[in-house]
This record gives sequence, structure tokens and C-alpha cells, in this order.
Amino acid sequence: MSSLLLTGATGTLGRAVDSLAVPGETRTLSRRAAPAGLAGASWAQGDLATGEGLDAALEGVDTIIHCATRPRGGDARMTRILVDAARRSTTPPHIVYVSIVGVDRIPLAYYREKLAAEDVVESSGLRFSIQRATQFHNLVFSVVASQRRMPLVLTPSIRVQPIDVHYVADQLLALARTGMAGRMPDIGGPQVVRASDLARATLKSLGTQRPVVPVLLPGAVFAAFRAGHNLAPGNRLGTRTYDDFLAGLPV
Ligand SMILES: NC(=O)c1ccc[n+]([C@@H]2O[C@H](COP(=O)([O-])OP(=O)(O)OC[C@H]3O[C@@H](n4cnc5c(N)ncnc54)[C@H](OP(=O)(O)O)[C@@H]3O)[C@@H](O)[C@H]2O)c1
Repeated sequence: MSSLLLTGATGTLGRAVDSLAVPGETRTLSRRAAPAGLAGASWAQGDLATGEGLDAALEGVDTIIHCATRPRGGDARMTRILVDAARRSTTPPHIVYVSIVGVDRIPLAYYREKLAAEDVVESSGLRFSIQRATQFHNLVFSVVASQRRMPLVLTPSIRVQPIDVHYVADQLLALARTGMAGRMPDIGGPQVVRASDLARATLKSLGTQRPVVPVLLPGAVFAAFRAGHNLAPGNRLGTRTYDDFLAGLPV
């Protein structure tokens, strides 16, 4: 029987965790119904916004890896609902929560929400691990690719340290398996690079030529990015660079 409940299992990070887990190790939590052939212990339909299905999903679970997110807001509330359900379990599980480097120093609305969700986890009374990571390669790629038909591509004049999502997934599984508790050191990818350089590399890989214009944006958010609060230069995980990621994309 699965003893590890994976929220956000259908998302970018959740899929990576699932792909690295031992078959049968995880139980997916999703709002969607189980795909044909995947019902039973390995899939639980549930909604973190309402709490529906959570008690059944948590039956027999000793660890939760919590990757579900709603970028338009609501992560703290979803995390509160999850934690409350976990505390009702006969044996309250260890919760591993993934967050983002700089959530406490970069005043973006989504980051404030993540910080509030961290607080919910820390004050839950459950055994917890919190792992902050920098941006995934996939996110950088999709942000740039969405601008590929614009006459020029604007990038903030900041540095980033993108990470392969599988290294983050591996780290979360390690925390789940070893039971290591507390706030872990921040992790980032192997290189700290200018966002504009990543944009140029992305456009090249898409076979598109567009001028890339780094812009100096005003305000506290970009001041915090420019100060490098989004980086974890002392903890570079893995060797797979953004160029390696691009080279591995299907042609
Ligand atoms: N993307 C990055 O660069 C990055 C960097 C560092 C940390 N992180 C963190 O990593 C985590 C995962 O990010 P991601 O990019 O993999 O997310 P994602 O691809 O957007 O996936 C979101 C997941 O959340 C689930 N979800 C949303 N609302 C739900 C609800 N009401 N009930 C149950 N599940 C719900 C969705 O599942 P269903 O639709 O199947 O229900 C989906 O699997 C987030 O906490 C994010 O902050 C991301």
C-alpha cells in the first residue's frame, strides 16, 4: 500500500517526483478522477480548496510531499486544509513542503502566499521539512517561449539560477525517506546567469530570432531580484544546466 501522499502529482514537479519514486511508493492526490487502470491505492481524488476526499486520501499515509499550488492565490488556505486533515489522522504524517528561494525577501503576492503556507506547515505541530528551490528550467522556458512571436523579447535585468526539476524532486524524496526535519538550506541550479542570456538561448533553441532587451524595472520586487534574493549560489545542486535542458527538448 502507498504510504506517501503526493499533492500536485499531476504538475511539473509532482510528475518528476512520481517518475523517481519506487513504483507503488506514492499515492497521487488530484482533483481529477483516476485515469483508467490507475484507481485503487495509487490515486486519490480530492480537492485541497474544499477538503473533499482528504481523509480517505490520507488513510495509511506516513509522509506527504506537498507540491500542489495555485499561482493565482490560495496556497496558504490549501495548506491549512491539508494540515488539518493530516492532524486528524490516526498517525499524523511527516509533511515535506516545497517553497521558493526568496519568499521572505521578494514582495511578490505569490511569494507572500508561499511564505504564509510555510508558516502553516511550521506551526502545524506535524513533523515537517521545508525545502526552498530556485526556478525550474521548465518555467524559464515557458516564460520566454510565450513571447516568441513578439517583435522583441523583454527580460528583467536580473540574474537567475534555474534548476532541473528532477534534482528538486530527488531532494524531496530524500527528505521524505530519511525523515529529515526542519527548514533545509536553499537549493538552486549549477549556474547563476543573466535572464537575458537564458532568453537568447531559448529563442535560438526554438529557431526564432528576436532582439532580447534587458530592462531595468522599478519597484521593490525587482530591487529584491537585483539584490540576488532569488539565488542560492552557495548550494548549487546537480550538473544539468539550462543549455543541457534545451538540448534535451524534443525537436
Ligand atoms: N515552477 C517553479 O519554477 C518552482 C520553483 C520553486 C518552487 N516551486 C514550487 O513547486 C510546487 C509545484 O510547482 P509546479 O510548477 O510543479 O506546479 P504546477 O505544474 O502548476 O501544478 C500544480 C498542481 O497543483 C494541483 N492543485 C491545484 N489546485 C489544487 C486543489 N484545489 N486541490 C488539489 N490539487 C490542486 C494540480 O493538481 P490537479 O489539477 O490534478 O488537481 C497540479 O498538480 C509549487 O509549490 C511551487 O511554488 C516551483
